[in-house]
Amino acid sequence: MTDRTDTNTEPIATPNFIGMLLQAQQDALAGIRDSAKPADMLRIEFLGAKSELSKLTRQIRQVPAPDRGQVGSVVNDVKKSIIDAINNKQSSTNHDLRSTFDPTMPGIRPAEGHLHIASQAIEEITRIFERISFTRVRHPEVDWDWYAFESLNMPANHAARDEWETFFIDGSWLSSSRKRGSALSENNTKTDSRLRGNDIKMVLTPHTSNGQVREMEKGKLPIRMINIAKCYRRQIDVSHTPMFHQFEGLYIDHNVSIGHLKGVLDYFAKQFFGPSRKTRIRPFHFQFTEPSFEVDVTCGVCLGKGCKLCKQGWLELGGAGMVHPNVLANGKIPAGYNGFAFGWGVERCFMMKAGTQLDDIRLLYGNDVRFLEQF
Ligand code: FA5
Repeated sequence: MTDRTDTNTEPIATPNFIGMLLQAQQDALAGIRDSAKPADMLRIEFLGAKSELSKLTRQIRQVPAPDRGQVGSVVNDVKKSIIDAINNKQSSTNHDLRSTFDPTMPGIRPAEGHLHIASQAIEEITRIFERISFTRVRHPEVDWDWYAFESLNMPANHAARDEWETFFIDGSWLSSSRKRGSALSENNTKTDSRLRGNDIKMVLTPHTSNGQVREMEKGKLPIRMINIAKCYRRQIDVSHTPMFHQFEGLYIDHNVSIGHLKGVLDYFAKQFFGPSRKTRIRPFHFQFTEPSFEVDVTCGVCLGKGCKLCKQGWLELGGAGMVHPNVLANGKIPAGYNGFAFGWGVERCFMMKAGTQLDDIRLLYGNDVRFLEQF
């Protein structure tokens, strides 16, 4: 392409100038034909202020004055041919696109996720208990030692605490934040009065039973709660993960009996596992219930006859019992009321469902999509 500059003020002979215009036209038309750029960019490149044509247009005054009219009409013709070339290019590109794009073709569906198995089970458990008037509640998953242990009849250093393989949290930051006068939540302020001296212990809740006294403290009776939350314990093997979920039922009213507890257990087992499943309770010990039980459900594979999976026909679900009087007192429940509580693992319940055939709980949290998308 010829280098023609704006700054040159030398006179230009008319034939030379027209030659320069025709050269610019040829260059522009070839550039437009070979370019893949969009029309807007071609317009800037070949008709914009920095284009060859614009530079030449600004030099018209260097052509002898009598010829400027004739030169002007050549400029207009050149400009029009460039505009036409760009417009043609644009409409043929659109035409190409139209001929390759078929809007009636089915689209490519983006990959779709779904709720994690634990979330699905939590939803299902919530719905089952809602049908018998239990309300889903939420209580802290990082809580005071008081709610997780002491209020549940497990004083400091009590041997029963060992069962819970607990992660403790240093709560001493709280005493410094209290000194600084920072705002604490209402619950924390309430709890403060129960903290003795420097013994400010917090835990990652090892069970959902921390919700028992918290629910009682709301002061509304009767209580029919289902507390579902994350729990944490220092455990990992085929049937244990360091983080898992429990659901905790608590029913406080007048004259609650073990018969009511057994009725709720049976109802849940039939709804969640299927109409042919049964439950049984075995004597056990928990500090916060008296009497206490372990709850079993008939095996989904042999339906109670005994097989390789269950050995004697029963699978263990979790704990239950009648709420201990000391726990009722810590929750300031008035005389004349009593109740039952139960606490089971969400993941374990899911694994016991017929058809899941899951023999390692850790798979649930391995984050392998190939495994998770089966459910
Ligand atoms: C308790 O945690 C009691 N709080 C249950 C309870 C509530 C008893 C109310 C009485 C009244 P336990 O430690 O057995 O009990 O745990 C209950 C269930 O949680 C177990 O049966 C199991 O299903 C599940 N679970 C416990 N630890 C783990 C773990 N590390 N991983 C997965 N599931 C677990």
